[in-house]
Amino acid sequence: MKIDTELSLPVEEAATLYNAVGWTRYTKDLAKLRRAFDGSTLILAAREDDGTLIGLARVISDGETVCYVQDFLVLPECHRRGVGRALMAELRRRFDQCPFFLLSTDPPGSEEAVKSHPFYRSVGMIAHEEQKLMAFGLPVDR
Ligand SMILES: CC(C)(COP(=O)(O)OP(=O)(O)OC[C@H]1O[C@@H](n2cnc3c(N)ncnc32)[C@H](O)[C@@H]1OP(=O)(O)O)[C@@H](O)C(=O)NCCC(=O)NCCS
Repeated sequence: MKIDTELSLPVEEAATLYNAVGWTRYTKDLAKLRRAFDGSTLILAAREDDGTLIGLARVISDGETVCYVQDFLVLPECHRRGVGRALMAELRRRFDQCPFFLLSTDPPGSEEAVKSHPFYRSVGMIAHEEQKLMAFGLPVDR
C-alpha cells in the first residue's frame, strides 16, 4: 500500500469508493465533487501496489489552528488492514500542530458508528463533550 497527495484525484474514481461505503450524497453531482476537491487543502489517496484506490482522506485546514477532516473512508473489503490508521498517521504528521483537529461522524448506536467510533478512539480522538466542548452546525439537509 502507498499513500500520496492527490489533489487532482479523478472524481469518477473517488465515486467508486464513496459509493462502496454508501456515501451516495457525494456522487450525485460529480461536478460539485470536483469543485469540492479543487477547494480542499489536502486529499490523501491510499492505493494498492496495482494502483487500486482503497482509501481517501480529505482535509480543509489553515495549517495552524484548524484541521477539519471532511472525508475519511476505506474500501469495505480492505477494512481492518491498517489503511485508516496509516491515513490518519499521515494527517497527524502534517496537521498535529492544529489544536482543532476534528470531524463530524455518525451518532452512537448507528451501524456505521460501530466501526468508526472505535477507530477514531484507537487513533487518539475523543468526542467533543468529553473535553467540555459542544459542536453546532446549520442543518445539513437545509
Ligand atoms: C472507520 C474506517 C475508516 C476504519 O478504517 P480501517 O482501515 O478499517 O481501520 P484500521 O484497519 O486502520 O483500524 C485501526 C484500528 O481501529 C479500530 N477499528 C477499526 N475498525 C474497527 C471495527 N470495525 N470494530 C472495532 N474496532 C475497529 C481497531 O482498534 C483497529 O486496530 P486493530 O485492527 O489492530 O484492532 C472504515 O471502517 C471506514 O471507511 N468506514 C466507512 C466510512 C466511515 O464510516 N468513515 C468514518 C466516518 S467520517
